[in-house]
Amino acid sequence: MSLTLSQLNQFSAPEFVRVIGPVFEHSPWIAAATWGKKPFADLKSLHRALCETVKNAAEEKQFALICAHPDLVGRAALAGTLTRESTGEQASAELNNLSSEEIELFQRQNAAYKSKFDFPFVICARLNKKAAILAGFERRLKNSRAEEVKTALEEIFKIAELRLHDLIAD
Ligand code: GUN
Repeated sequence: MSLTLSQLNQFSAPEFVRVIGPVFEHSPWIAAATWGKKPFADLKSLHRALCETVKNAAEEKQFALICAHPDLVGRAALAGTLTRESTGEQASAELNNLSSEEIELFQRQNAAYKSKFDFPFVICARLNKKAAILAGFERRLKNSRAEEVKTALEEIFKIAELRLHDLIAD
C-alpha cells in the first residue's frame, strides 16, 4: 500500500492510528498521541513528531515500548507468531535460516542481555546482518542500563523510519 502524505494529513484519528500505529511495535498509543500534530509537511516531520511523542512520554511508557519488541530469533520468531513487520525485519537480517548452534547463541545472548538490563535487545534488524547483530550484543552488554535505554530508543526510531518509508510515498 502506498499512501501520500496529503491523504494521511486528512485522516481521522482512528484511520491515522490504524495506518501509522504499526510503525511502532505493539504501541499504537504513539500514533494516537501524534495525530493532533498534523498536518505534516514531509515524511521527516512526521517521523520527528512521532519520535518526539516517545521522547516526551513517561519513562514507563518508553520502557513498555522497548519491551514490546520481540527477541531476535526468540520464541515468537521460531514459532512464526511475529507481526508482519517483524517477520520481514528478521528475515532481512538473515535470521530466518540459522543453524541450531547459531539459534542457541542468539538465545544465550538474548538471555544475558535481558538478565542484565531487564528488557529485550533492540537493534534495527534491517540495517544489520547476523554478524553485526552478534557484535552488537558483545559490545552493548558492557554498557550501562541508561546507555542501553537510549540506544534501544534510537534503534526503535530507525525501525520506525524504515517502516514509515514502506507506508508512505515520498
Ligand atoms: N527486536 C530487535 N530488533 C528488532 C527489529 O529490528 N525489529 C523488531 N520488530 N524487533 C526487533
